Amino acid sequence: MFDLSSKCAVVTGAARGLGQAIAVKLAEAGADVALCDLQSDWLDETAGKVRDMGRRAEVYSVNVADADSVTAGVKAIEADFGKIDVLVNNAGITKDGLLMRMSEADWDAVLDVNLKGVFLCTKAVMRGMMKQRSGAIVNIASVIGLMGNAGQANYAASKGGVISFSKTVAKELASRNVRCNAVAPGFIRTAMTNALEEDVQAKMKELIPLSRFGEPEDVANVVLFLASDTSGYVTGQVLSTCGGMVM
Ligand SMILES: NC(=O)c1ccc[n+]([C@@H]2O[C@H](COP(=O)([O-])OP(=O)(O)OC[C@H]3O[C@@H](n4cnc5c(N)ncnc54)[C@H](O)[C@@H]3O)[C@@H](O)[C@H]2O)c1
Repeated sequence: MFDLSSKCAVVTGAARGLGQAIAVKLAEAGADVALCDLQSDWLDETAGKVRDMGRRAEVYSVNVADADSVTAGVKAIEADFGKIDVLVNNAGITKDGLLMRMSEADWDAVLDVNLKGVFLCTKAVMRGMMKQRSGAIVNIASVIGLMGNAGQANYAASKGGVISFSKTVAKELASRNVRCNAVAPGFIRTAMTNALEEDVQAKMKELIPLSRFGEPEDVANVVLFLASDTSGYVTGQVLSTCGGMVM
């Protein structure tokens, strides 16, 4: 049903967590995968999993917040794979704190990676996708970008920005058959969320109608749908993957 064979997918922040699960899921559906993270040697585990499935994996050191790094990375990927069919903008960070105490540096760091990074990577791949008149861009936002969260003003603003950016890209590129959608995960078990205090985790669980935290694969399944032609008539949408936390 979800056939990505002969497609090249780029996944940012693919060394661990959601990025790794997404890369493996896309490979399972037949895609060759270009894996990007801050350091290429962090990507060996993900690359091994992709290759175990008989798919091609190449690793790239790319800082999504740095224009030169993104340009060089995308150029190398296009040279290695010949084209890019799918971009998953997944790289993201948090630097939490109440607004009263939030430093400008923490604001800038989160906006640079989570929002500017999505802008830079999308810009770098869009020319090729427009030329080939096909492409799917999937941006990993967050339910926090929809509902806000005390202590995460920078993160919420970045993810809200990703959502409105995705809708705009969808409108600008639709005539070239390039789709752009956002996924808004809720509370998913990864290193990012395991770092939260236990009492915060317990409080979050109470807000989830399906009364369990999500697994990375829950998000990867939704990304697979949006990356594949099965969702060919879906663009500019935000698909929350949060156990019903946001309706
Ligand atoms: N885990 C959750 O519950 C959850 C919920 C909602 C949204 N998200 C979003 O999902 C995405 C992945 O989250 P995760 O939980 O897997 O996080 P994670 O911290 O486990 O992984 C993030 C990856 O991004 C990479 N990265 C960070 N900065 C980068 C940069 N400048 N350039 C390239 N790579 C960079 C990291 O090295 C890491 O491998 C993020 O965008 C996050 O905001 C996660």
